[in-house]
Amino acid sequence: MLKGVILAGGLGTRLYPLTKVTSKHLLPVGNEPMIFHSVKQLTTAGITDILIVTNPEYVGDFVSALGSGKEFGCEFTYRVQEEARGIAHALALAEGFAGGGKIVVLLGDNIFETAIHESVSDFQVQQRGARVLLKQVSDPERYGVATLNGTRIVAIEEKPEHPKSDYAVVGVYFYDAAVFDVIRTIEPSARGEYEITAVNNVYIQRGELEYSFVHGKWVDAGTFDSLTEAHQILLNSADWQ
Ligand code: DAU
Repeated sequence: MLKGVILAGGLGTRLYPLTKVTSKHLLPVGNEPMIFHSVKQLTTAGITDILIVTNPEYVGDFVSALGSGKEFGCEFTYRVQEEARGIAHALALAEGFAGGGKIVVLLGDNIFETAIHESVSDFQVQQRGARVLLKQVSDPERYGVATLNGTRIVAIEEKPEHPKSDYAVVGVYFYDAAVFDVIRTIEPSARGEYEITAVNNVYIQRGELEYSFVHGKWVDAGTFDSLTEAHQILLNSADWQ
């Protein structure tokens, strides 16, 4: 059974002072706290065993907002990331929860116009390895950027100054159980973080990284402008009414 992991740690410094007293992932988007969107993406895809990774400061607020999962028809487990040392560092906390099975990982600040359940189905039948989702964007330098050769991803660069393509790697990742051993092999980047891009590049080297494209609008709601856009996307989306 595929399990879900929502990463909602980090500092949210770009949204200060909105993040002065709470987490970015609890700010309103559409008519709900941001993290409800990630939860609904997973439950819509039939995933009901969900781990939430938060920072120590706001873990109580997440539990108050989400509860046991009963309201969403799922079951939550909570883990605290003591220091914001990167997405791969946060994901490492999911090893026991994953229990040797496959997982889908959502960044809690990614908002989608459409449901991602088709990609989840694609991963269910994938024998091994990992899968990422790509979206063509006008500002690739803000994201992980995939270089394609024919139908394969040959490299991913994290926030490159001179992007080699306009395919952003969005914040949804699918992994087999090998991901935790991969995380143990990577070194922190120049900005001091354990990067998810470094993990994905190991899967590329193994010839085990597949991808799908995101249909509809996508936004990483980490800045004021993108938070406004996320709000509009959810209010106008047919999938999320
Ligand atoms: O949104 C997609 C992008 O997300 C990808 O294209 C990039 O490759 C990926 O590195 C990431 O970039 P960001 O700079 O947007 O990541 P950010 O630091 O904003 O973190 C995204 C989410 O991950 C955030 O909602 C909370 C979670 N997180 C982040 C860090 C650094 C944690 O749970 N713990 C952490 O230590």
